[in-house]
Amino acid sequence: VVSVNPLNALGLPQVEDDMARFEPLLAESVVVGDPYLDKITTHLILAGGKRLRPLLSVASATGGESPASTEDLLGGVAVELMHLASLYHDDVMDEATMRRTVESVNARYGNVVAIVAGDYLMARSAGIAADLGTEVSSLLAKTLAQLTQGQVSEVRTAFDVDRTHQDYYEAIQGKTASLMAAACRVGGITAGKEPDELDALSHYGAALGVVFQLRDDILDITATDGELGKPAGQDLAEGIYTLPVLIALEDPKVAEELRELLGQPLNEPEREKARSLVAGTTGVAESLDEARRHVSQAHQMAAALKGPALREGFRTLSSSLLDELG
Ligand code: IPE
Ligand code: IPE
Ligand code: MG
Ligand code: MG
Repeated sequence: VVSVNPLNALGLPQVEDDMARFEPLLAESVVVGDPYLDKITTHLILAGGKRLRPLLSVASATGGESPASTEDLLGGVAVELMHLASLYHDDVMDEATMRRTVESVNARYGNVVAIVAGDYLMARSAGIAADLGTEVSSLLAKTLAQLTQGQVSEVRTAFDVDRTHQDYYEAIQGKTASLMAAACRVGGITAGKEPDELDALSHYGAALGVVFQLRDDILDITATDGELGKPAGQDLAEGIYTLPVLIALEDPKVAEELRELLGQPLNEPEREKARSLVAGTTGVAESLDEARRHVSQAHQMAAALKGPALREGFRTLSSSLLDELG
């Protein structure tokens, strides 16, 4: 399975200790005492996940130089719960059957349960954010609005072979980068950092988020099912035309055939056909170039941060996202 290990890439031992203390707080945060609901709300938490966003919060708060405070950890819990809720809802929207190597919540319990449980996780996130103060709470409210706008924009352009690069970037900035930016900023807020530092943290998180989603979208074309832990070419089949596909659609060698094939849901042989057409163009290489440009941006943003250990850790973390992609 291709995967990133953000904790390793970050290379800050103190943050590793903090993340061990984070885990029980996350698990407790969704337990109500109703066995049926608890099983559903803990389903994906127990299945795993990289905890990238809370790691960003904690590292942003401490720079790896001192133990995280309870507020720093709870900021990470609020952020991870919003991420989880978005996954519950995303898997309904994408009709996904697998998530974090297990059955998705919608596949296991049905769409209605997945939607309502996602709302529940979102409410828990909002409650914890409110306890942390109006600055965190208003940031997360704004972030959820952006995330939702990104998802809606993706839905609006589904199956649209004329989707533009700008449509693509708008969608990924909303659905992915906004929460990574907020994850970093929340850590800065709970640690009481100055406005300039908060902005630098947000900018880093946003650049990282764009790289992260480009990586995910490239892998959908280049990786095998086994490497992904979910069906490859899923985006193509579901009508989500990501940057490599949009670039392929501009290549006169395949444009006509690809346009003919896309624009509707695909069965398995059609999906493989579309995937190999895209893979035969410069779509992947050009998307990788774009990802590298955003890694450079993330490096610049990291360089503006105060702590030397954090500067280095955040720099390495952003580069590591492209490690397995060549
Ligand atoms: C998945 O995020 C959603 C995307 C933005 C592509 P992650 O890859 O961080 O998911 P987990 O938390 O590790 O499962
Ligand atoms: C994930 O988008 C973004 C959110 C969950 C908001 P995708 O649909 O591209 O991510 P995966 O591939 O399902 O993780
Ligand atoms: Mg999805
Ligand atoms: Mg999606």
